[in-house]
Amino acid sequence: MSAAEYIPDGPTLEKLREAAAACRACHLWELGTQTVFGEGSSDAQVMFVGEQPGDQEDQEGRPFVGPAGKLLDRALEEAGIDRSLAYVTNAVKHFKWEARGKRRIHAKPNWTELAACRPWLDAELAVVSPRVLVCLGATAAQSLLGKQFRVTQHRGEWVESELAEHVTATIHPSAILRQRDDESRRRELAAFVDDLRIVAGVL
Ligand code: URA
Ligand code: SF4
Repeated sequence: MSAAEYIPDGPTLEKLREAAAACRACHLWELGTQTVFGEGSSDAQVMFVGEQPGDQEDQEGRPFVGPAGKLLDRALEEAGIDRSLAYVTNAVKHFKWEARGKRRIHAKPNWTELAACRPWLDAELAVVSPRVLVCLGATAAQSLLGKQFRVTQHRGEWVESELAEHVTATIHPSAILRQRDDESRRRELAAFVDDLRIVAGVL
């Protein structure tokens, strides 16, 4: 099954958000608290696509509001990208997690879940029609640019794609948070900001 049957006619972001709230196209709707739809203006010039909402996003119903989102905000600011010019969303719209004690630990979405949720992302791309598309991390990159795409090899490069005029991928901000020490975190954050500066250059 896929979300295709939930997509409304003549979609606008408002109509899509409302329809997505009732999506049951894959089993993840049972796991998450709510659908976390993308956020931003339909005039946004740049779209950022992450993997899936995290624990905090699941509770608040908004993308990138937790620790990874705060880091993204900081990096965007350092790169000189106004978040109000951006539309931010995820490849999968429900939080997939496994219980570890009392904590809910992120679990990676599989291809079936990504495929089921893809119509929402395609509809967002169609309505927003961003000039620039940025995949954050391997899940978004492989979903949008192909399974063979390697973020580690091609981060910060422009990729030929029908999806937008300028398309690129970089690491996921969570990968910076997972670094073991301050030095590695600093280094990874600087590299992430460098990738975002390339994006800033075409805005
Ligand atoms: N990680 C993501 O990929 N997306 C979010 O919205 C939050 C964390
Ligand atoms: Fe629908 Fe996507 Fe949620 Fe699955 S993850 S129920 S496809 S919105």
